[in-house]
Amino acid sequence: MWGRLWPLLLSFLTATAVPGPSLRRPSRELDATPRMTIPYEELSGTRHFKGQAQNYSTLLLEEASARLLVGARGALFSLNAHNIGDGTHKEIRWEASPEMQSKCHQKGKNNQTECFNHVRFLQWLNATHLYACGTHAFQPLCAVIDAETFTLPTSFEEGKEKCPYDPARGFTGLIIDGGLYTATRYEFRSIPDIRRSRHPHSLRTEEAPMHWLNDAEFVFSVLVRESKASAVGDDDKVYYFFTERAAEEGSGSFAQSRGSHRVARVARVCKGDLGGKKILQKKWTSFLKARLICHIPQYETLRGVCSLEADTSARTHFYAAFTLTTQWKTLEASAICRYDLAEMQAVFAGPYMEYQDGVRRWGRYEGGVPEPRPGSCITDSLRSRGYNSSQDLPSLVLDFVKLHPLMARPVVPTRGRPLLLKRSVRYTHLTGTPVTTPAGPTYDLLFLGTADGWIHKAVVLGSGMHITEETQVFKEPQSVENLVISRMQHSLYVGAPSGVIQLPLSSCFRYRSCYDCILARDPYCGWDPSTHTCTAITTIANRTTLIQDIERGNRGCEGRDRDTGPPPPLKTRSVLRGDDVLLPCDQPSNLARALWLLNGSMGLSDGQDGYRVGVDGLLVTDTQPGHSGNYGCYAEENGLRTLLASYSLTVRPATPAPAPQAPAMPGAQLAPDVRLLYVLAIAALGGLCLILASSLFYVACLRGGRRGHRRKYSLGRACRAGGSAVQLQTVSGLCRSRWPQCHHSLHGPMC
Ligand SMILES: *[C@@H]1O[C@H](CO)[C@@H](O)[C@H](O)[C@H]1NC(C)=O
Ligand SMILES: *[C@@H]1O[C@H](CO)[C@@H](O)[C@H](O)[C@H]1NC(C)=O
Ligand SMILES: *[C@@H]1O[C@H](CO)[C@@H](O)[C@H](O)[C@H]1NC(C)=O
Ligand SMILES: *[C@@H]1O[C@H](CO)[C@@H](O)[C@H](O)[C@H]1NC(C)=O
Ligand SMILES: *[C@@H]1O[C@H](CO)[C@@H](O)[C@H](O)[C@H]1NC(C)=O
Ligand SMILES: *[C@@H]1O[C@H](CO)[C@@H](O)[C@H](O)[C@H]1NC(C)=O
Repeated sequence: MWGRLWPLLLSFLTATAVPGPSLRRPSRELDATPRMTIPYEELSGTRHFKGQAQNYSTLLLEEASARLLVGARGALFSLNAHNIGDGTHKEIRWEASPEMQSKCHQKGKNNQTECFNHVRFLQWLNATHLYACGTHAFQPLCAVIDAETFTLPTSFEEGKEKCPYDPARGFTGLIIDGGLYTATRYEFRSIPDIRRSRHPHSLRTEEAPMHWLNDAEFVFSVLVRESKASAVGDDDKVYYFFTERAAEEGSGSFAQSRGSHRVARVARVCKGDLGGKKILQKKWTSFLKARLICHIPQYETLRGVCSLEADTSARTHFYAAFTLTTQWKTLEASAICRYDLAEMQAVFAGPYMEYQDGVRRWGRYEGGVPEPRPGSCITDSLRSRGYNSSQDLPSLVLDFVKLHPLMARPVVPTRGRPLLLKRSVRYTHLTGTPVTTPAGPTYDLLFLGTADGWIHKAVVLGSGMHITEETQVFKEPQSVENLVISRMQHSLYVGAPSGVIQLPLSSCFRYRSCYDCILARDPYCGWDPSTHTCTAITTIANRTTLIQDIERGNRGCEGRDRDTGPPPPLKTRSVLRGDDVLLPCDQPSNLARALWLLNGSMGLSDGQDGYRVGVDGLLVTDTQPGHSGNYGCYAEENGLRTLLASYSLTVRPATPAPAPQAPAMPGAQLAPDVRLLYVLAIAALGGLCLILASSLFYVACLRGGRRGHRRKYSLGRACRAGGSAVQLQTVSGLCRSRWPQCHHSLHGPMC
């Protein structure tokens, strides 16, 4: 029944998953299923840290001293990055005073969540001191902290220029050469701004006659060292990622657009910017922004961004996570796009947008562009023309900058499309690292955190992504707030409301055979033929002999019989004719298709001759003598076939009723009342056996149901979750609903 219902259901779900008729349906091939599912109970090698505080959302890793610094609600922690749970941490309590809290509450803020000191900013100020800012019950405060003593100073700095008031507000901040570069919505009025403070030349964005930013929610910022190895004496730049109201869409007044559509943006400023002299005084002269496109119009809410190789601008690229922009709260979906710095540079060097007074809308600016090009950094050629700093720029250029912050062309993703569209998942944060494999190529490995406490580990392959595993790192569903990778500790640190988790970057031991190891396509794992184990590439000296196939995930193990693991033991099953029997076989990979062979050759298909094939086993219904034979359960994945279980099934003819047949039984000679006693005793024993078997089987069925975490990708789950493209189903589910029939088969032989 399910077999026939499923396509119907699926087409219904995919049809309804797209709000509005004009939108293209996301390609199903992009909806990657995580190959392995690791539920919380099966985690291994993790470390936990949890203090008295909550909201461990700010993380700062110091590789050299192996410390992980954590900013939480009302506290700062310094953890041993090698093992965050070893109890050697240092702690700074930094709470807002009860008076501050009640003042905050009087201003109408929530004293259960907002009127605390949420530490939002934590960065190195110099080699010895940290700089931290907290929301401090809606009166932000900052502190210079001696990292060695790790104690709170006696005096604080005003924080309203550097830190948001609202702990839930988007915020991003960096310290570059001692200057604070922060972006958020500041003060009670919540005006979005990109600011530089604690610097001889404090700067901010322009608000008149045009807002450079509209209701911006900031997500991420990064310094890209574009001065390094620059032939033209370029400056370093800071890139900002955020979502904001699209002033250019729809009609709006000049100063304040009424457009309500929110879009993703990337903006950038030059590090050497000193502001203008008369025009744009104490304002950025190098601010430019552009639209960031991933998969529009569905996916425009930016959730997380990470940068890779920001030290070498020629190779710098970014990954961004977007979620579905829809009023349908129950629909969850995410998209991942990759962007190259070169594409952003080209957009910022391209045409500008302009507000056209006549038609009262934004359009591409077609007029002449003054020299030096507005919004550019000071380069060697500008210096040679006497423009030593932004303060020397002509008024004409600065006036142009004031009115043209937006570029005409959007930044499009690498290859023009998303790497991944994922249904039923809301990504909240991501980070990544390049991994160089023994064979030479480098792959980007991403870790994506979800709103319900899972981490997806994915390798980027050309135009798509392969999710090697999904791991449940928090038992209680909660949003992953922060992710940091330490290559030296081979660890991923996860910050969330209830604590910090440290996970190994790879768990290669989970892959038991050579095939399993290469099918995983984890760039950190390779099959070591000398030890017959799947090994982390970082732990062995001679990496040249490791077998890996990240690109295709199926080559290299041919002819290595010793590396495919011992064959599973042959199990025997015997049933009465007419009963049902379940032959369990769990597929460890969500991407594998179950294949059953009878007597080594005949492939069994679902629905044929009373066979039901599921991800957890084979159900044979109404067994007949012809069902006897040897059953092999295989996993077929990516063109490879591996044996997981084998059974020898015997179907016995139904035994005659235990009631004695007149001449054949010796009991015929017995007196009728003795015979009756026999019958009664047999009936009682049979009944007892039945009850025992039923209860045993019921327990077994329940256990099976709980153990089967991969049911996440089964039909039942897909129905609730709103349409996973995976067409897997379980047969032990049938077992549960039909257990009165089922129990004979498994326990019949026992009785
Ligand atoms: C929050 O305010 C309410 C109402 O004034 C009060 O009853 C409650 O005790 C306060 N909670 C905290 C944690 O201060
Ligand atoms: C770092 O900054 C702090 C505070 O401004 C100062 O006291 C300290 O001397 C500085 N350390 C170094 C190494 O410059
Ligand atoms: C720029 O610097 C050069 C060399 O330091 C100097 O000669 C020149 O006058 C400066 N130009 C301006 C506009 O300040
Ligand atoms: C802090 O954690 C609580 C759960 O413990 C959560 O409800 C709240 O949203 C978090 N606040 C912030 C600002 O992350
Ligand atoms: C690594 O293994 C290869 C192949 O077995 C061998 O040729 C090479 O000498 C080994 N290198 C080291 C450093 O042991
Ligand atoms: C499979 O083999 C068994 C004995 O080895 C035989 O009894 C049975 O008929 C065979 N079944 C099929 C379908 O070939």
